[in-house]
Amino acid sequence: MIFSTVKITMCNGKGGAGKTTLAVLLATAFQKAGHRVALVDRDPQGTATRWIEETHDIELAQPDGNHRLVLIDTPPRLESAALQESLAESDCALLVSSPSPADLWTSQNTVATIQKYLPAGRPARIIFNQVQSRTILAKDLAALAQRIGLPALTAHIGRRQAFQHAALLGWRALDAESREELLSAALEIAALHP
Ligand SMILES: Nc1ncnc2c1ncn2[C@@H]1O[C@H](COP(=O)(O)OP(=O)(O)OP(=O)(O)O)[C@@H](O)[C@H]1O
Ligand SMILES: [Mg+2]
Repeated sequence: MIFSTVKITMCNGKGGAGKTTLAVLLATAFQKAGHRVALVDRDPQGTATRWIEETHDIELAQPDGNHRLVLIDTPPRLESAALQESLAESDCALLVSSPSPADLWTSQNTVATIQKYLPAGRPARIIFNQVQSRTILAKDLAALAQRIGLPALTAHIGRRQAFQHAALLGWRALDAESREELLSAALEIAALHP
């Protein structure tokens, strides 16, 4: 089968937004959906590397042309060369943020960095993480995204303890609902590059 590799940079200049959690779990979801996936850890903190060493769920590899998708985890610093280079070589950027307005305001600088380094015409989206269902903020995520000028994925990721357990136990820590959430987001992301 002939296909081109799609590279996706996970980013936010702010620490703790959930970049690594979503990089690993979305990569695993893509794999569960039948794609060959590589995860690239460009953060010197090495959290994604450690996670994969613990769980063995997915491959931590340099892309070799046989991967359908490559997810790149980046450090929480906008001036990081690793982040800027990742964006420059990516087909897509995912800004990971909670829906809290204060977090979104600090994400505004990340939007500017994406616009500066991601080649023109390539899609960038917010993926809302740590969303608490039945809260006012969860009701209109699209409108929140508009305020910082980046469209949001329709799929969003809830705040769930299972996602923390997954760092030790991998995909098997996740219940059906958590898996469904990740697979919906993965399908939407894959559809950005049909
Ligand atoms: N959806 C979620 N539900 C519950 N906990 C979460 C979720 N996403 C992330 N976390 C937790 O939040 C913390 C930070 O997550 P993570 O390490 O993925 O963020 P990060 O953006 O990669 O951080 P850094 O900027 O330091 O690299 C971790 O303890 C993680 O388990
Ligand atoms: Mg991280």
